[in-house]
Parts: sequence; C-alpha cells; structure tokens
Amino acid sequence: MSDGSTGEKLTELAKRRGYFFRSSGVYGGVGGFYTFGPQGAALKGNLEEAWRDRFAVAEGHMEIDAPTIMPEPVFEASGHLEGFDDMLIECPECGATVRADHLVEDGTDHEDAESLPIPEVEAVIAEYALSCPECGAGLADVAVEEFNLMFSTRIGPGDSQPGYLRPETAQGIFVEFPRLSEYARNKLPFGVAQIGRAYRNEISPRRSIVRTREFTQAELELFVDPTGDGPDLEPVADVPVRLYPASAQADGGEELRTTIGEAVADGTIADPWVGYFMGVAQEWYEAVGVDPDRFRYRQHLAGERAHYASDCWDAESEVDGNWIELAGFAHRGAYDLSNHAENSGERFTVFRQYDEPKTVERAAVDPDMSELGPRFGADAGAVVEALERLADRDRAAFDGETVTVDVDGERHEIDVETAGFAVEEETVAGEHVTPHVIEPSFGVDRLVYTVLEHAYREDEVDGEPRTYLALEPAVAPTAVGVFPLQRDDALEAEARKVARELRAFGLSVTYDDSGAIGRRYRRQDEVGTPFCVTVDYESLEDRAVTVRERDSTDQVRLPIDELPATLAALRAGDRSFEELYSNN
Ligand code: GAP
Repeated sequence: MSDGSTGEKLTELAKRRGYFFRSSGVYGGVGGFYTFGPQGAALKGNLEEAWRDRFAVAEGHMEIDAPTIMPEPVFEASGHLEGFDDMLIECPECGATVRADHLVEDGTDHEDAESLPIPEVEAVIAEYALSCPECGAGLADVAVEEFNLMFSTRIGPGDSQPGYLRPETAQGIFVEFPRLSEYARNKLPFGVAQIGRAYRNEISPRRSIVRTREFTQAELELFVDPTGDGPDLEPVADVPVRLYPASAQADGGEELRTTIGEAVADGTIADPWVGYFMGVAQEWYEAVGVDPDRFRYRQHLAGERAHYASDCWDAESEVDGNWIELAGFAHRGAYDLSNHAENSGERFTVFRQYDEPKTVERAAVDPDMSELGPRFGADAGAVVEALERLADRDRAAFDGETVTVDVDGERHEIDVETAGFAVEEETVAGEHVTPHVIEPSFGVDRLVYTVLEHAYREDEVDGEPRTYLALEPAVAPTAVGVFPLQRDDALEAEARKVARELRAFGLSVTYDDSGAIGRRYRRQDEVGTPFCVTVDYESLEDRAVTVRERDSTDQVRLPIDELPATLAALRAGDRSFEELYSNN
C-alpha cells in the first residue's frame, strides 16, 4: 500500500477529516507545529492511554507530570547545553538552513551521516559537490556548524533567569529522583513514567508530524541496581523480533530474525532490561496497529548515540518507503543521576542494605587543628576536606612521612602524623549506590502517523472506490457510528436513544443522519470507525439493529439491549466480529 503517494494522500485525508494539520494556518503557519484535530486528538489520546496501561500500570510503575520549562542548571548538568546539537549548513546564496547530515544522506550512499564528525561531513559535501536543496547553489566550501536544538526563554521579568523548554521529558523525572526514590521506599528497581510535550528547534522539520518542533513523548525511566538481578525474561523470551545490529550495519550485513530470549542469551542485545522492554514493545506496537512486517529494531552506531547513552536500540517503522524512528531503548548508565548529584550537591543514590552487616576497613583522617589552623588560617577547612577526600581515594598516599594535597591549585605538604591518618575497622549495614537508568522512550506523534499509514487502505465496495482506515478498534477515535436509516422522527428518536446508551457505556459515538446511508458508511470508513449501527423500521418492532463491520463490510442483526456490551467487547478485542457473523 505504501506506493510513495500514500503519505500525500494520508496528509490530505488527515487535514480534511480532522486528524492533523499545520497550526496557525490563518497567519501562514510555521514549520514544525501541528494541531491534532478532533479525530487526531482522540486517536493520540487512545494511544497514550494504551501506553500508560502497558508501560506504567501493568508494570507497576509510578507516573508523574513535570513542568515543560526548566531552569538552566538542569541542562548544564544533563549535558544538553553542551552536547544537544545538530549539524547545520546555511546556504550563502538564499539563506536556507539545512541539516548537513540529511543533505549527505539524501545526496549520497551514506545512510547514517549523523554519526560522522563534522570535518568528514564537510569532506563528503565537497567530494559529491552537494548543493542547496532550495536554490541549487554549491555548498562545497561552506562550513558546517553545531546548532543547539533547545528553545531558550527567560523565566520571570527584570533580572530573570534563563530557562529552556525541555527537549525530553526525562529530565523532569531525573531532577526529582531524591523524592521519587522515597516514594518507592528506596527499593530498586523502580520505574517512573511520564507522557508530555518536548520541544526541539529542529533545523528542518520533515514529513508533517514525523519531525516537528513540539511533540509528545511517552517515557519510562527505570532505575536499577547496577549489580542487581535483571528482569524475568520469561514473558517475552519467545517474542520474535527483527534486529539490525550495529555490526551488521557497519559491514553491510543482514538483519537478524530471532527472539528476545535468544538475542539476550547470545549478547546481541547486551542488557537484559533493554531486551525485556523491546519484547514488551514489539507486542504492544502490534496490538495498537503497527504492521509487524514493517517494523524492526536497529541498534545505534557508536557515533550516533546520544551523549548520555552507552547502548541504544531504536524501534523503527517503515512509512512511505522510509524507515523512521518510533522509539529508543537506551542504557543511560549512571550518567544523569551522577551529573545531577555533582551539580546540585544533593544525594542521588539509594541505600543498598547488605544481607548481613559487613566489617570493612575505612581510611580516615583526624587532623590536628592546633597545627593546621595557624598555618592555613581561613583555608584550613579546605585543606581538611582535601585530606579526607585523599584518604578515601588513595590510602597509599599516606604511606610516607608526609602527604601532599592540592587546594585551589596550590600544593601543600603536611606531616602524616598531623593529618591523623588511620585505617579503622567498621561494621556497615549497606552502601549508597547510584542507580543505572534503562529508558524506553516513545514518540507519540510518529506513532500516530505510523498507525494511520499502516491502516490506510483503498478498495472497491459495490463497484465504488473506497478509502478506509483499518485502525485497531481499541484505539480508533470513534468506536461506533449510529444512523437512523432515513430522516424520520421515530427512527431518529430511537437512533439517538441507542447512541445515548452506547455513550453511557463508555463508547465514543458519532450520530449521523445526513445523506444517503452509503455515504454515511463511507464517511465513517474514512476516519476508521470500526462499527456502524443502523436503526431501521423493523428495529421499532423487533428491538434489533444492523451492525456493520468496517473492513469486511459484513453486517449482523443484534438485539438493542445486547448492543452496548457486545460493542464494548468487540472494541476491547474480547469478542470477534467474525464469530458474531458466523453465528448470526
Ligand atoms: N529521552 C530520550 C530521548 O528523548 P530521542 O530518541 O531523542 O530520545 C525519543 O527521542 C523519541 O521521541 C523518538 O524515538 C521519536 O519518536 C520522538 N521524537 C524525537 N524528536 C522528534 C521530533 N522532532 N518530532 C517528533 N518526534 C520526535
């Protein structure tokens, strides 16, 4: 179905039928911002709810909702101020700004230019004489620059402080770790989920909602003990997956067809937690309508990984003939918590209790202040701290008669006896550990696009061409369309009553009484409504209605009083329409 024009047809359908469209169109719009219309907002909400059910509720994790603007120190610590850049090239002729790695990927055989260093990207642009996609001017001698993707702002008036719109929801979780850890009673592993907006000043927003400047992420940060047991892989061990490891990408190798259990056992997926979430996600994506034949996991090449990740696999879907990244499954190690601890001075650790108390040797100093005080004056405290740190780090430094410490760039020699160095035995109940972070990070907008593109169908019904969206009933924006067969007071009153009863049962219902019945079916098919109910004259007598299924267009007759429960079961996947049809 993805013949290259599906994307265009889908974007047209999305705008016409209220899935998504460019924002602020009355003022000309601005690249990278989209509004989800009534259908799109409902589909997106249903997908978010499905994600919450699977990744937060079913896994027993907490969910939070943090602000989208955060102060500068957060992003100094997270590394985003320093390292969250894309490669920018600006056309000297027309001023167009282009992502240099995309220019290389579009104009050469390089598939992953993002992982190349800037000088190499410049060299490739020169070698292939690549030109500006807007005006055709040559870009061979134009410098490629780093461009930070964060949107900055000022918080408050006057002497305000700088802030940034968060580029990932994750930081809102990391900065609250000390408190969240208490809520989890300091027991690892525990997970914190968040669904919310993230902002990136993308150089070249692309393909409608696939690459935007404001988008929704659904992220789970799982905090694990670095020496702890991994997950129970049993529930996902047999899940089949299609993997494209970094090694295969580097040497032109093939994708692997394997299972999660095998891939973790043979080390293809190095971390069992990462493997666990890839298995859960494989099944979840399929359940919400991603075509498993157009879905794979691709491992990041070393140069492609974000500044915080030690390993990362992307979930990718194939849309319009291209692979796009739907989600990332990253091992972030202790990167975030250590950096926030260092920058904030707060404790970002969890106390790991030993099974039995342990006797350990602890090196400590007990400096003689009657000597250090007069000698160092106001700096004496800093000298004592330097001695304490050294004793903790390198007890061999105290082996001689004297020991040397650096304080503010000055070296001081101190008698070991004055330092009061000693190694003592101590009984300890446990130790403080910095948890490691495993992060499944999902993009919701790209999932909306994928689910729509994979559901897009064209066929013929009664000799007429038809376009429909074969959306999974559980996520379709509207569950049921209710129609009176024709304009008639008695039929309309009965149909409205049916619609009210279905809504009271928690189903989203569209009531439509305008135009021929065939046209009404087509309208619902085009927005992906899985079931339509028609009230006809017989209904007034036999208290039954016709229920039509979208994909097959098959129809069954059902009693009105059974309708809400039956449609709810069909929507939830607890019953199948085929079974109803064959029993009818
Ligand atoms: N906390 C990790 C993180 O943010 P990421 O791979 O940069 O990782 C996660 O982003 C997901 O967010 C991506 O897999 C993608 O689905 C989505 N995403 C990232 N940038 C996006 C953009 N400009 N427009 C739409 N979705 C985007």
